[in-house]
Amino acid sequence: MNHPEWIAILDYGSQVTQLIARRLREQHVYCEILRYDTPAEELRERAPKGIILSGGPCSVPDSDSPKCDPALFDLAIPMLGICYGMQLTAHALGGEVQRGEKHEYGKATMRITKPSPLYEGMQDEVQVWMSHGDKVVSLPEGFETVAESDNCPHATMQHLERALFGVQFHPEVVHTPQGAQMLKNFAYGICGCSGDWEMAKFVEHTVAKVKETVGEDHVLLGLSGGVDSSVVAALLHKAIGHQLHCVYVDNGLMRYKETEEIEALFGDAFGMDLHVVHAGDPFLSKLEGVSDPEKKRKIIGNTFIDVFSEKARELSGDVTYLAQGTLYPDVIESVSPIGGPSATIKSHHNVGGLPEDLHFKLIEPLRELFKDEVRLVGRELGLPDYVVDRQPFPGPGLAVRIIGEITPERIETLQQADLRVREEILSMENHLDVWQYFAVLLPVQSVGVMGDDRTYENVIAVRAVESRDGMTADWFKLPYDVMDRISNRIINEVRGVNRVCYDISSKPPSTIEWE
Ligand code: XMP
Repeated sequence: MNHPEWIAILDYGSQVTQLIARRLREQHVYCEILRYDTPAEELRERAPKGIILSGGPCSVPDSDSPKCDPALFDLAIPMLGICYGMQLTAHALGGEVQRGEKHEYGKATMRITKPSPLYEGMQDEVQVWMSHGDKVVSLPEGFETVAESDNCPHATMQHLERALFGVQFHPEVVHTPQGAQMLKNFAYGICGCSGDWEMAKFVEHTVAKVKETVGEDHVLLGLSGGVDSSVVAALLHKAIGHQLHCVYVDNGLMRYKETEEIEALFGDAFGMDLHVVHAGDPFLSKLEGVSDPEKKRKIIGNTFIDVFSEKARELSGDVTYLAQGTLYPDVIESVSPIGGPSATIKSHHNVGGLPEDLHFKLIEPLRELFKDEVRLVGRELGLPDYVVDRQPFPGPGLAVRIIGEITPERIETLQQADLRVREEILSMENHLDVWQYFAVLLPVQSVGVMGDDRTYENVIAVRAVESRDGMTADWFKLPYDVMDRISNRIINEVRGVNRVCYDISSKPPSTIEWE
């Protein structure tokens, strides 16, 4: 898409580069994260309204540290260097950067000593988050210091005429409480953005673009019922209607009534061309007798490819495109010399290796979006809250929550227990604070009493966690009355279960799923 207003973020390997993009997008400013060495010529052509140089772990004085194209500073485009980016700016324009003996890390109070458009509307003292070793000790010609902190005499520098700015702290993290306002001041006040990035507009543009790209052709989509593929389905359906063919594979390991819900929503309510493949038998027969979690995953992955490919072949006469719900964090191409999260180059080519005879062109309408933007698009397209706010669900489904062997009876026991966990947690007002919640069926029997009889039945573990991204997690402090209802309902209503435990492990060292 051609964005008339956008900001380029050059990535020098900071762990929080993506947060700069998040903060700007939240202010309705479109932005993209680009390689640290993006040529000035490329940026001249693409004409961003502003350029941000991110932080990074390297040392600018080192000869092999990542540098920007020096011609960037002559493009007459406003620039903001953050931490390493500030040092890079100073170094490139003739200032001096001193290697730090000790790292300054944490909260600091910054005093604003001169007016700056970056700090428009702020008090003279603001709290900022520092994380740096090196620092700028002498400014390049024409720059002035506009803010200082105890450890950092040049906490902010600016060259007003050239619209070049540098800050030694991180405005993108929440520990700089006014950081979002600072980035907004840069984008709106300095770069002249008007805030034209809105989800309604995104939908309108994307629908038009998909129509133009696809023309009379047909598109195939693997619909899992998760947020991303559901939003792709709704978006493509709006654009091309019955030229979209959705394939949903029921592997027999879905949650209770999940397949029926998908049929009712996408098939009946939206009226999409939905192909539900009931493939429980091939999955379950291949899983018979298998307890090893890695083997389970492999069998399920391979069987999915087989089943999906067979259906795709059936439909492929008409189909040119394969749609995928790839999101922006998967496509950020970013290279830094030191590794770390932003250093990975991820590539998305095809659905986990479809066979060679199936050649599709890829269509990825969400590749510019972050997850929360995808949810907004989903709402814009009329998807119900229960889809848009859906918790993550692993591809192998309940297989990774049935510890030990998978049998139809054990699937049913887990589905029934899981349903009760979900119903009770959904009835909590703050259920959206819980990242994931589910039941796990253990391969353990325990003794109980029911009436006058001793029982020897299954144990269910309940897992509920809070998390921001699934990478780390803590167990959710569920109210006792909710735990009480979950336990009572499972033990009284689910046949074959006589004991319920609550998992109080955090990740790391545990994981969210049990397998
Ligand atoms: P763990 O268990 O590793 O899970 O802490 C982190 C997140 O990933 C989900 N998960 C999976 N998703 N296929 C998936 O699509 C899988 O095999 C898989 N295993 C875990 C998990 O639900 C959590 O959100």
